[in-house]
Formats: sequence, C-alpha cells, structure tokens
Amino acid sequence: MIYRGIIERYKKYLPVTDKTPVITLYEGNTPLLHAKNLESVLGGNIKLYLKFEGTNPTGSFKDRGMTMAISKAVEDGSRAVICASTGNTAASAAAYSARAGIKCSVIIPDGSIALGKLSQAMMHGAKVIALKGNFDDALKIVLEITEKYPITLVNSLNPYRIEGQKTAAFEIIDFLGCAPDYHFIPVGNAGNITAYWKGYKEWKTRPKMMGFQASGAAPIVKGKPIKNPKTIATAIKIGNPASWKKAEQARDESKGVIDIVTDAEIIKAYKLLASLEGIFVEPASAASVAGLIKYKTKLEKKSCIVCTLTGHGLKDPDRAIKSATQPKVIDQNMKKILKAIGL
Ligand code: F0G
Repeated sequence: MIYRGIIERYKKYLPVTDKTPVITLYEGNTPLLHAKNLESVLGGNIKLYLKFEGTNPTGSFKDRGMTMAISKAVEDGSRAVICASTGNTAASAAAYSARAGIKCSVIIPDGSIALGKLSQAMMHGAKVIALKGNFDDALKIVLEITEKYPITLVNSLNPYRIEGQKTAAFEIIDFLGCAPDYHFIPVGNAGNITAYWKGYKEWKTRPKMMGFQASGAAPIVKGKPIKNPKTIATAIKIGNPASWKKAEQARDESKGVIDIVTDAEIIKAYKLLASLEGIFVEPASAASVAGLIKYKTKLEKKSCIVCTLTGHGLKDPDRAIKSATQPKVIDQNMKKILKAIGL
C-alpha cells in the first residue's frame, strides 16, 4: 500500500473522521535504525535503536503533530494559526499552513534559532516575528493572543499536536513488536515526552521514559523555572516548559528519569552519531544519546533501548561547521592533494 502519512495510517487511533480534510506531507514512517557501531562503543550488552525523526518532510518530529493540528484547524473553519517556537515548530507550521492555504504567524526568539529553521519559515510564507526575548516570553505572548483573537494555537498545548506525535510510539511498537525497555528523549517544552508516553499507554506496552534537558535549560530537573536558559542546543533552550507536569507524570508513571546533560556531552553525542552511524542530527536531538551515554552503566544488561533523534542536522549548519574539522584549502597541485587525502 502507498504510504500517505500518519493520519491515514493510524486514523483508528486519532480524533479524525472521514470528513476531516487531511493536510499531509506524508510525514511519519521514519526509520528505526539498529545502531551497531554505537552499541559496541558503549560496551555492548544492549540493543540500541535510533528513531530518526529528521527524515520527516520538514526535518523534525513536529510534522507528526502538525498534520493533525492543521487538519483539525481547517476542519474547524480556522483561517489562521500561530505558534511560539525555537524553530522547528515554526518551520512545520509554516509548511503545513502553506499546503492548507491558511495564514501562519510564528514568534521566535530573536537571534536564538538555527538558520535552516528560519529559512524554512520564511520560504513557506509565514509572518515571522523575531521577538526581543526568549522562547518562554514568546509563548506567553502567543497564549495571550490566542485567548483574545480568532487564531488557532499550534504549539504542543494544542491537544491535536500530542495526538499526532504519539504515532511515533506506535511505529516503534509496530517495528519491535513491543515497547523497548528504555526510551531516551530530549525534553524542551515537554510535549514530545508527553506524546510518546500517551502512545505507549494506549497500546499497553511501556518503556521507562528517560528525558534529558540541557544543563543550562533544565527547569524540570532544577524544580523551578529558569529565567535565562542557556544551551547550544537552541531547540530545547526553554526555561518554563508548557507540559512540565505531564512530563513529570510520564517520568513517574514509567519509573523513568528526567535528568541533565551538559552542552559538552551533547556535542560529543552529536559527533558520535554523525561519525559512527552516518546520522546527522541537530544538537538538541543528540541529548537523548548523551543521556544514554550518561546512564549506560545504570541500565539493566541486554536492555532494548530506543533513542529519539528529533531533528535533522541540516537545520543548524552553523553548529556543524563549528564542531567539525575545517576543510583544507589547497592549490591545484596533485602532490599536495594526495598528501592531504593521506595517499
Ligand atoms: N528536539 C528538537 C529538534 C526540537 O525542536 C524540540 C522542540 C525538542 C527536541 C523538544 O521537544 O518541546 O516537545 O519537549 N522544539 C520546539 C520548537 C520547542 O519550537 O520547535 P519538546
């Protein structure tokens, strides 16, 4: 059967009817890759899978939620949507709105979003407002606007976003036959950990949920909002997550953890994924693997582990270029070229 996106595939489990106008870019159906090289670097004794969400149409997991949020907005007669975003939600909302023919506005923290994401929102024709403030300030403003004006909120506080994103858990269960023992995931605004946990519970097979925040943006771990969150992983640079309580619920019900990883640990995992597995993710996505590296010795032997890799590396080319070996500039001289190649 031809694949036509998460709504068609999982409609029995989603709040849609035959009348719902499905706005899709054929999101979902992302690879669950067996990570043999990382397994051996981590010392073996585990089975490790990577759920690479960077292959979604706009390059992040947000597309799963956005196909639902935009389809339902159109079904309900909405002509305009808005979100606050560290970049990926904005890119996704802009793309799906373009496809639906409705207006999209995005409020992003000025100077704090990766170049690829900004270019997507701009190209898809969203109204992009770069706020002098951080993500938390932007979300507050967006909530105020959606309370007063006829414009639909498409942040993950919109329950349809969570419904769409839970399908990633369904895909994992479909592939593995059951939930893994542990599921590692980055945590920012905390919608995605909430969505996976909902999906696992609905299909009655549950992992321990292992969420990771960047150490300079770890309100849940610190137990209080962070005024000025700081991390190179701009996607999760969030000081007051909207789904804070639900993330804690996922952690507690699953007997998992929410913990921190440092920027250095994130960068290490980011480079390992690219060099050992051929998977280029954006820095925030590597927080899950950084968390696994931190917890490896504490896990039961022979555990089955899934790490969600939330977004594609091409989203943030600046960080990649800063993190990797620079190209050598060489004259058209065969001897010098061969030497540089190591031949
Ligand atoms: N990874 C990436 C690449 C993200 O873009 C985000 C969130 C997360 C992880 C964290 O997911 O918020 O559900 O806990 N990005 C949002 C945005 C905040 O605006 O694009 P979460």
